[in-house]
Amino acid sequence: MEIIHLSAECYPIAKVGGLGDVVGALPKYQNKLGHVAKVVMPAYQTKFLQENEFEVCYDGWGKLGFQNFPVRIFREKTNKLGFDLYLVHIAGLMDREKVYGYDDDTERFLAYQIAVLDWISQWEHRPDVIHCHDHHTGLVPFMTANCVQYRHLSQIPTVLTIHNAQYQGQFGWDKLHYLPAFDAWNAGQLGWKDSINPLASAIKCAWKITTVSPSYLDEISYNANGLESLLAQERGKSVGILNGIDNEVWNPATDPMLPKNFAIRTLENGKRANKEALCSVFNLNADKPLFTFIGRLVGEKGADLLPEIFYHALNNNRGELNILVLGSGDPEVETRLEQLKPSFPGNYNTYIGYNEQLSHQIYAGADFLLMPSRVEPCGLNQMYALRYGTIPIVRRIGGLKDTVVDIGDGGFGICHDQSSVWDVGHAIWRGMELFKDKKRSKEIRKFMMQLDHSWDRAAQQYIDLYQI
Ligand code: ADP
Ligand code: GLC
Repeated sequence: MEIIHLSAECYPIAKVGGLGDVVGALPKYQNKLGHVAKVVMPAYQTKFLQENEFEVCYDGWGKLGFQNFPVRIFREKTNKLGFDLYLVHIAGLMDREKVYGYDDDTERFLAYQIAVLDWISQWEHRPDVIHCHDHHTGLVPFMTANCVQYRHLSQIPTVLTIHNAQYQGQFGWDKLHYLPAFDAWNAGQLGWKDSINPLASAIKCAWKITTVSPSYLDEISYNANGLESLLAQERGKSVGILNGIDNEVWNPATDPMLPKNFAIRTLENGKRANKEALCSVFNLNADKPLFTFIGRLVGEKGADLLPEIFYHALNNNRGELNILVLGSGDPEVETRLEQLKPSFPGNYNTYIGYNEQLSHQIYAGADFLLMPSRVEPCGLNQMYALRYGTIPIVRRIGGLKDTVVDIGDGGFGICHDQSSVWDVGHAIWRGMELFKDKKRSKEIRKFMMQLDHSWDRAAQQYIDLYQI
């Protein structure tokens, strides 16, 4: 099959969070199964664009309402990523440093989607499926089904994967004229409540919908930022497929970003070396358990609770544990996390910002990884932690519930029910107790490192889905 993945992010080209990881891995695994999976994403001003070789495979003009915009589509020449990569260059709109966060994001992603469909329209053949990821590509199923100029694409099946229903990309009806002409009777397929809602539109128009874990599919029936009833209505065409991880990128035995590589056999010395390296950089005590958090510092991840959780844990257990945070997001949370530093020198530190290499070093060097998420459609961090022998401490929600089993139930993680200071504090205490039991900790770490969370299974599940 020929599969076209459309996404705003794709590792290693541009990544803000897990969406990038998924789109950088799933196509590779689909290709390994004998299919032809391609990624078509915007061309941002990234290092990847500057440092790699491309050829131009499309040169044209797109139309956004009354405005024309120039489009160039570049194909990466070496195929070293394990899939064909196409970058959609739109001068003035897409060629910027950040992926999101501009006032004209609506125009940017609409122009990208229109450019992609203009290009595919010119192909002599039709792909077997267009797979859209999140709301930035959510108007594609509507446009292929309804826009006059794309009518010949209407028989291509479209699949929407919802990575996170909290973000929907809504904009006002005053921008309706941006869309290429379609029969006005169908305008209802664009809207939800009082606005044009790309995620809702894709839920209505895509042939199939997937969520990134089975539990998240259940949860969005009561927690989907206003889309609950729509999702319930479209449940018949929805499936929960658990994300995998890219075992080639995330392999402690070969990971070039680690000071010391290790495998199950060399777990103890290997983890110790990584922990010592990390602790020396961040002035922490390598003999004490190291608890960490990696992620976006937003309410969804329970990040606003962290300063209080950490204050109590560090205060109640003076000198007996270390905490290290890597993240960025809400400026108030960033400041509160920074402000704790002078009170706990030698036991607490932060890195506020985004740092891919450091994230790998933390998964490798930490003892525990905290994920007190309020919402977690899948979560990849816990799977990376498992692979690097770091025990996940997670709230039982979404994909966390589907991937982590509590040690009390014969499992390999520490689970708690609520995103609350008390629940997480108690879970940290359980972690400290477990850390004291060296033999048990080691057995658990060895067990979780051999769990298979690779994309092999899920890549096939998607192929099966496309064929229905
Ligand atoms: P989400 O996509 O909701 O942010 P996921 O758990 O699916 O959450 O994926 C997060 C990804 O982003 C992981 O690869 C994680 O290591 C990475 N990540 C998050 N924050 C940072 C950061 N500050 N620096 C480096 N990597 C980060
Ligand atoms: C979203 C979700 C996260 C998921 C990721 C990849 O960002 O918040 O839980 O792991 O997408 O699917």
